[in-house]
Amino acid sequence: MCPPTFFDVREAKNPYMRLPIDRARAHEQWDKLRCAFTDAGVAVITIDPVAELEDMVFAANQVFVGHSARIGNFIVPSEMRCLIRQKEVPYYVEWFRDRGYKVVALDLKGECLEGHGDLIWHPDQSRIWAGYGFRSTRGGIERFAAAMRDLGFPVIPVSLVDPYCYHLDTCFCPLNHQAVLIYPGAFASGSLGTIRQHWPRVHEISRDEAHAFLANGVVANSRYITPRVSPNLSRILEQEALTPIIVDTSEFEKSGGSVFCMKASLD
Ligand code: ARG
Repeated sequence: MCPPTFFDVREAKNPYMRLPIDRARAHEQWDKLRCAFTDAGVAVITIDPVAELEDMVFAANQVFVGHSARIGNFIVPSEMRCLIRQKEVPYYVEWFRDRGYKVVALDLKGECLEGHGDLIWHPDQSRIWAGYGFRSTRGGIERFAAAMRDLGFPVIPVSLVDPYCYHLDTCFCPLNHQAVLIYPGAFASGSLGTIRQHWPRVHEISRDEAHAFLANGVVANSRYITPRVSPNLSRILEQEALTPIIVDTSEFEKSGGSVFCMKASLD
């Protein structure tokens, strides 16, 4: 995670973005999220924030993190769509390189790729779900897929169509090996068909639920850390034997991000 020391809203990068940010409140919310992770048994390590990089707190985006039998721990650096966010990437790459991660650098040739905002591991790490359309581009995903093929990981592209679900992590959340939480309206119809083919249980949330970041949660040791619940989400979590843990992320939602966006998972 990255502390929100310089967190701010400066340009409209997505349809959620609005002012003003309450910095003190953002810090409190971030601390509570950090505690929710540690309470769930997940160790939290931080990267130092950098002045002027107002979105660096969204640690899901700068690199894709993986582990391969062939090359061990690795990262794939992102090519962020927004100029200011491109500057975050080298800091994250350095952090991971210093800790022994191999850097799989792609020649993206102007295509975009936004890390775990759009690239989500299947829970058994057998394949990678890849959203494109608003941030990552189809071409970026194709180049990423070619590199992952060499490591033995198939990539499944899915096309995003709702501007409020500009990253895959806003509308698609694997709950376990068999169940996924999705907002169907965020996907092109062919992509929705692909999702349904791969998952024995597809749980659906509504547009309003998705836009309230209910699919942007994190599953950790039988818990679902989420900014809020709805009756529908509570029922789904119960069916999947997950306990909801609610952490208010309202300040970060003003920047278009919530729980899932504020961390990179290291395993
Ligand atoms: N303001 C950030 C942006 O628009 C929010 C990023 C949210 N991250 C995510 N993984 N969905 O780039």
